[in-house]
Amino acid sequence: MSDGLEHVVAAATVLSEVDGQAGRLIIRGRSLDDLAGRTRFEEAVHLLFDGFFDDLPADLTRPLGEARAEVFAGVASIDARLLELSPIEAMRALTARLADGDDLATALRLIAAPAVFTAAVVRAQAGEAPVAPDPRLGHSADILRMLRGRPAGPGQAEALDTYLVTVCDHGLNASTFAARVVASTRAGLTSAVLAGISALKGPLHGGAPGPVIDMLDGIGTPENARAWLEAALARGDRLMGFGHRVYRVRDPRAGALKGAVRRLTEGSNAAPGRLAFAEAVEAAALAILKEKKPDRALDTNVEFYTALLLEALAFPPSTFTCVFAMGRVAGWVAHAREQLAGGRLIRPQSRYVGPEPRQAA
Ligand code: ACO
Repeated sequence: MSDGLEHVVAAATVLSEVDGQAGRLIIRGRSLDDLAGRTRFEEAVHLLFDGFFDDLPADLTRPLGEARAEVFAGVASIDARLLELSPIEAMRALTARLADGDDLATALRLIAAPAVFTAAVVRAQAGEAPVAPDPRLGHSADILRMLRGRPAGPGQAEALDTYLVTVCDHGLNASTFAARVVASTRAGLTSAVLAGISALKGPLHGGAPGPVIDMLDGIGTPENARAWLEAALARGDRLMGFGHRVYRVRDPRAGALKGAVRRLTEGSNAAPGRLAFAEAVEAAALAILKEKKPDRALDTNVEFYTALLLEALAFPPSTFTCVFAMGRVAGWVAHAREQLAGGRLIRPQSRYVGPEPRQAA
């Protein structure tokens, strides 16, 4: 038995490979360096879906835009009780109202859903009317527009594309495994995506970047970093944005996202010094982790610079996991289709360690 299924190979996939020793991520034969910052999200979805849908059009921009417009009808069912939920719970509840299916139309609605529902929920929670999608726009530009009610600023849609592409797929992570388990029962793509969202929201997976902002705000100044981080470790807390089940070196996505933060914020007055401050906190955290946890190779993971990038794009921290879902949903759907195409029902066994039944008198 392997604790946490570490090192267990539970699927063969053509979709992505995570090399934890070399710090390398391959998505369908392309390295992350080749994709991030050079590929629109729609192109990444096409790359993942290629071969899994017979009727896949060459350009997904318009079909995905139309799927956003279709999904927007679900915004009408937002009520006061839904708005008491966190954005990820509300988005999940709205996504659960979509019909199950295995076809491309269902798949595109599922790619659209986290984007459309998150924007509408966040606006409704702020007392603002939802903004209908514009099917002519690229997905990232429309996400920013639906959220804010005005067009994205210079470089912002490109920065969001970089983020969504960077996180679109990542081997058999917890949420993707959950999605594949559900797909293996033939429940349908919507059910598989709901499993993915549910697994993603935990703080050990996609729930970390919001707490990264809390950590940066708690630290406040570079001089305070060491004392704050040491106190956190002494309490037994984990440092958010560090450590990974597979990577024993720096997560390559951290570099891709840091580059995107730099491109987006260079020359802007929005948050002068924020990136330099984050770099100082990262350096302090890595040094302290090395001292305090010498037996584990703990390095920066994707969530640290995710937090910086999504903050620079003015997403509220409460929505960070929803934005992660906007990208990762492409991987969940592709993995679900791959599982359906060739995989058996996923049904491992457990080892019983409970008491034996008592003998009848
Ligand atoms: N801060 C402090 N200690 C840590 C951290 C951390 N960020 N990460 C691991 N450790 C410690 C653990 O406490 C444990 O030590 P202990 O047994 O003495 O308590 C040991 O290192 C275990 O390390 P791993 O086996 O590498 O951890 P695991 O594979 O179980 O967990 C995980 C990986 C969940 C990502 C972990 O590193 C963590 O909790 N990180 C913080 C949360 C985070 O950033 N999550 C986002 C992950 S990226 C993603 O899912 C998209």
